[in-house]
Amino acid sequence: MSLLKRLGGPPQPGANSIPSAPEPTPAATIPPPSEQRSSPQADKPSPPVAANDPPAAAKPSLSSRVDAPAADSSDMAASTSQDEMKRMLDLSLWVVDRIQASLGSQTVLKQTPETERLLQERFAAIYRQANANLPDDKVKYLFTMVCDELLGFGPIQQLLNDDSVSEVMVNGPNKVYIEQKGKLKLSAVSFANDEHVLKVIDRIIRPLGRRVDRKWPMVDARLPDGSRVNAIIPPCAIDGSTITIRKFSKNKLQISDLIKFGSLTSEMGEFLEACVVSRLNVVVSGGTGSGKTTLLNVLSNFIPSDERIVTIEDSAELQLAQDHVVRLEAKPAEVDGSGRVAIRDLVINSLRMRPERVVIGECRGGETLDMLQAMNTGHDGSLTTLHANTPRDAIARMETMAMMAGMDLPVRVIREQIAAAVDLIVQQTRLDDGQRKVSYITEVQGMEGDVVVLQDIFALDIKGKTAEGKIMANLKPTGVRPRFTPRLEAHGFKLPPSIFGAQVPGGKKW
Ligand SMILES: Nc1ncnc2c1ncn2[C@@H]1O[C@H](COP(=O)(O)OP(=O)(O)OP(=O)(O)O)[C@@H](O)[C@H]1O
Ligand SMILES: [Mg+2]
Repeated sequence: MSLLKRLGGPPQPGANSIPSAPEPTPAATIPPPSEQRSSPQADKPSPPVAANDPPAAAKPSLSSRVDAPAADSSDMAASTSQDEMKRMLDLSLWVVDRIQASLGSQTVLKQTPETERLLQERFAAIYRQANANLPDDKVKYLFTMVCDELLGFGPIQQLLNDDSVSEVMVNGPNKVYIEQKGKLKLSAVSFANDEHVLKVIDRIIRPLGRRVDRKWPMVDARLPDGSRVNAIIPPCAIDGSTITIRKFSKNKLQISDLIKFGSLTSEMGEFLEACVVSRLNVVVSGGTGSGKTTLLNVLSNFIPSDERIVTIEDSAELQLAQDHVVRLEAKPAEVDGSGRVAIRDLVINSLRMRPERVVIGECRGGETLDMLQAMNTGHDGSLTTLHANTPRDAIARMETMAMMAGMDLPVRVIREQIAAAVDLIVQQTRLDDGQRKVSYITEVQGMEGDVVVLQDIFALDIKGKTAEGKIMANLKPTGVRPRFTPRLEAHGFKLPPSIFGAQVPGGKKW
């Protein structure tokens, strides 16, 4: 039976048998030592092909059939069932094993036109041995899988190539989820086994000199394109090695995109631009993946280009258009546990760098106190993000995080620092239907007794759902002008009353 039929059918007896293809050369039968150690394919069955397939020679020339990776690779993954994908994966790993064996253990493959030509030749020869009778599009896809395995990040490479996928989440070998158009879904992609996932993790972190093992089973890293990666393996990841990749968007969303998507209105954009230029201290608050960093990037790009900006991030994601930017990134500890440079250290250091603006990617702990102190001691116009679900919650988070600095300050003192330092909280929300919106723009007005006084300037008004499940919501001014309006005016922003809800036509359009 041909492989094509088998791809569509139930598992066949003999699927694990030795292929009918000519025996591999001796070099091919002994995998190189490195492969013996880490190859997920080492204990894999032979390719699921049978002896009576039609002779491959009768088919059109293979090199012409694989001369380019399948153009619609991600569509193929999307349109192919998980069972079929698993069988294609088995076959691709079988081919990979043989290509690796034929190249020898010393060969380090680099993505060059010569390598691609070499792989094309080897693939054609080995595929012929497999005697598989796949249609052209599947042969091309198989070749893509083989190249991804040898040169890329294996089964998830096509998801990484697909611009419509914003996040890739590997939950053990058999469940790979993606985020597409704001929605999470299970993809058809899988790995052979946990070893295979580990091999891809290793490929991601090895060039960075990082390591992950049972002793310290988690690691943060970045792909060459800047995508943010976290990996955690057993024993801490109970159901198998887990990879989470937030893909780096080559074209970071601009204010005009956010307005087009309905994430905020042009009036809100105009107001936020005025706040940033007028050196207000702004905190973007939101849940995981709600769009905080994207909004921080948009806001940071409002900073006038003649100001010196220092950005501080755990993993550099911001893309500022200004020229005069110094980018700082935290550094994990070395293998012996020493040498960690935390966000907190960088915030303290940045204040000695004559910054006119400090942009902190995210406050997660004690650095919050340093940031508040910086904001209160002349470094106004600072911007940051934090995890919180409402503006009120953001105040509580800042209190808790400032306490993590271990300075033993009374809560009231911390609260006063927050009230004095932070001018504006911009709340970003990911709605249940996947839409991301600015749900509140809230002024921090000061203290009344023990309470930090907040005043919403814009708020999201949820109307209901359409038949298709899309949430209908209006972003509206509350009708209240912020108390800091004179500061905006001092910087030349005479915002029309319509921005704050008065019925006057006009307003800037992006
Ligand atoms: N307003 C928006 N509309 C549509 N997509 C958005 C919007 N804002 C952000 N995104 C997309 O949502 C994803 C998450 O965005 P982002 O990294 O900014 O979130 P985050 O809140 O910083 O996440 P984390 O909590 O993991 O740091 C990205 O793929 C980004 O392109
Ligand atoms: Mg973020």
